[in-house]
Amino acid sequence: MKIKVTTLEQTKKLAQVFASCIDKKGIFATLTGDIGAGKTQFIRYVLESLDVQEPITSPSFVILNEYRTKDFEIYHFDLYRLEKQGLKSIVSELREYSKEGKITFVEWAQFAKNEIPPQALKINVQYDDNDLNIRYYTFQSIDNDFLDKFIKANK
Ligand SMILES: Nc1ncnc2c1ncn2[C@@H]1O[C@H](COP(=O)(O)OP(=O)(O)O)[C@@H](O)[C@H]1O
Ligand SMILES: [Mg+2]
Repeated sequence: MKIKVTTLEQTKKLAQVFASCIDKKGIFATLTGDIGAGKTQFIRYVLESLDVQEPITSPSFVILNEYRTKDFEIYHFDLYRLEKQGLKSIVSELREYSKEGKITFVEWAQFAKNEIPPQALKINVQYDDNDLNIRYYTFQSIDNDFLDKFIKANK
């Protein structure tokens, strides 16, 4: 599914719908796309919608931020600054946090290709070539439970 957004408000709405589709099973999602396209912003809106109370910052320097709500353990990775050997230091976390019942977002997941579960929800964020105010959020998955629900909720 590909969704076009032209305002922050639309991104927020999309993130709220996304959050409302997450159930007890949790979600493991990867995010790819250009720097500044809106990966962190989308995650921030999802987490706010899930009632995370702390400020949601980009984990680009720390690699991983963790949050806890009444219902969920939430993990937000940003692998952009991960050196090759650095991957080893987070592999066990990535494996642990891809288990059912947790909510995990991984920005720049292409840097840990072999450690991403195949059933992960893939989110790509792109600018429009001609108009930088236009962004496209694309959602793909081989595990269609969440995606079907999300597509229906967007209708
Ligand atoms: N419609 C929009 N959706 C998402 N971000 C937007 C939008 N319009 C403007 N922005 C701004 O673009 C920036 C996106 O930054 P960020 O989410 O950190 O990018 P990334 O994590 O993809 O590198 C933020 O400053 C955000 O406020
Ligand atoms: Mg980011």
